[in-house]
Amino acid sequence: MDTDKTQPIEDPIRPHSFDGIQEYDKALPNWWLFTFYITFVFSIGYWIYYHKTDMGVDQIGEYEANLARVEAAAAEFNKGAAEVNDESLLALSQDPEAVAAGQQHYMSNCFPCHGAELQGPPAPGLPGVSLVDAEWLHGHQPTRILATITDGVLEKGMPAWGPVLGPKRANELTAFILSKQDPNITPTGPSETPAANAAAPATNAATAVPPATAPVASQSNITNDELVALSQDPAVVAAGQTRYQTLCVACHGVNLEGPPAPGLPGVSLVDAEWLHGNEPLQIRGTIVNGIIEKGMVPWLAVVGEDGANELTAFILSKQP
Ligand code: HEC
Ligand code: HEC
Repeated sequence: MDTDKTQPIEDPIRPHSFDGIQEYDKALPNWWLFTFYITFVFSIGYWIYYHKTDMGVDQIGEYEANLARVEAAAAEFNKGAAEVNDESLLALSQDPEAVAAGQQHYMSNCFPCHGAELQGPPAPGLPGVSLVDAEWLHGHQPTRILATITDGVLEKGMPAWGPVLGPKRANELTAFILSKQDPNITPTGPSETPAANAAAPATNAATAVPPATAPVASQSNITNDELVALSQDPAVVAAGQTRYQTLCVACHGVNLEGPPAPGLPGVSLVDAEWLHGNEPLQIRGTIVNGIIEKGMVPWLAVVGEDGANELTAFILSKQP
């Protein structure tokens, strides 16, 4: 090995010369040669492992396996997208498994506004209505309830759950709500029309999208500095406050101090602790995209890009 070091001068000089530059005929260092030979041995092993046997999964195999997983997840998400009607939903409401699944979705997403017993907002001043009284603002027929859940009533603060939860879970939620109806109550509200009834399954199918693309993506390219500037604009802050009072108090409290009643989801927005970042754009991102698995609704579809800016400005203006 150290022959390199002891005899550099004695290495022969190659006969050729380029622009007067000559080179020694140096022996390659052994460590280099060994590494080189090892790559030969490795490549043979690699070739046998990946190309000649079934032991190794190559990129195409990996890609196909991943694709199959995504497709399975999308199929699960979209299950029940087609062919729902009043009868099939009523039948689903007799299926204890579907009802139990619906109850679970309900407790993670709906009870802050509709109450644990579906009786309406658990604390005064919150948005939401009873789902077990006689009065149905948007129709009591199973497909109507499903359509309300799927499309929401955005201007009243009822989020559109179709893109968030998918058809299967929307169906299960409908089944759960139906299972809670008192048979002695005669529901009132907009009555069944063939058009509305026909439209409902179509709406449900329209939201049949893979989970990856489900929530609407924000197209805004507003910056941190612009959001901070908005938080100093009284008109914008006031607009944000109005939205906040309608949509957010249920879980974040009138003074942003956290849930107004024990057991509700939500966190303080004025303490030092930010679970999802305290930069203006991070706060905006949480509002826009939600934290679905924790019960924080993605609000973009409800409030739009400007609304998201106003809400962020309002929250920033309230920071101690
Ligand atoms: C942020 C508050 C909020 C959350 C969370 C929420 N809702 Fe609502 N929901 C409302 C409001 C407000 C209304 C009343 C809309 C109106 O006044 O037109 C409503 C109405 C409804 C109606 C129609 C009631 C009727 O009288 O026709 C159904 C059904 C419903 N919600 C189901 C759900 C389900 C299921 C979930 C959970 C996946 C949910 N809601 C989550 C606020 C909410
Ligand atoms: C149905 C309950 C609910 C409603 C309504 C709701 N949130 Fe939330 N929000 C949550 C929960 C739960 C979290 C905490 C998520 C977590 O634990 O990761 C959260 C977190 C947040 C955060 C991030 C806090 C942090 O520590 O990083 C912001 C910002 C926020 N919400 C803003 C809003 C705004 C603005 C509205 C109204 C447009 C709103 N929320 C309405 C439940 C809600």
